[in-house]
Amino acid sequence: MRRNAASTSALGENGHRSYTQRVRDAAVGKILVQQDELAHRVRELGREISRDYRDEEIFLVGVLKGAVFFLSDLMRHLDVPCQVDFMAVASYGSSTDSSGVVRILKDLDAPIEGRKVLIVEDIVDSGLTLSYLLRTLWARNPASVEVCALLTKPERRKVELPIRYVGFEIPNRFAVGYGLDHGERYRNLPYVAALAEGP
Ligand code: IMP
Ligand code: MG
Repeated sequence: MRRNAASTSALGENGHRSYTQRVRDAAVGKILVQQDELAHRVRELGREISRDYRDEEIFLVGVLKGAVFFLSDLMRHLDVPCQVDFMAVASYGSSTDSSGVVRILKDLDAPIEGRKVLIVEDIVDSGLTLSYLLRTLWARNPASVEVCALLTKPERRKVELPIRYVGFEIPNRFAVGYGLDHGERYRNLPYVAALAEGP
């Protein structure tokens, strides 16, 4: 049986349950990717990317806010020169479904012309957000644009996209933790879990 990271941790020093335990009880369901599996895969991805970009400089584009946790861990496993910048986009739609109509809330600070861009995303669901980002960034004449996504839900894909690096394929469940939110909550969970099904 898989170890359940949240339920095995004992009460804290002061006898209170940790925040992680409390939020898990309320709305967080089955763990989809354990903390140690995340760490292991992120290290592997870092090695693979470093090999592929040997002797080159990578321009990492992190997609706020979800990718921040993954990106900061991934960067520490890159041993090629790299720079980092962020974009924030909002996709119109419900809290669990994006519409493909995307608005840039924060753009990159500098041009990417001639750069080798690597988009770092938390999750590719329908693919609509990423498809918009790819079009937008390609229009700025970079040398290349590749994608590294921690998670992908292949069953939900509406547009096929070239995703060069994928951490994990997950089933069609709404995921939270390790950067992923539901209504801005649960990003701080150290693992990826499915949102609990309603009563
Ligand atoms: P897409 O445009 O449908 O591919 O959705 C992309 C964005 O929606 C991701 O970058 C996430 O911010 C968010 N998203 C999609 N699925 C999930 C999920 O299961 N949990 C949390 N956020 C998600
Ligand atoms: Mg995102």
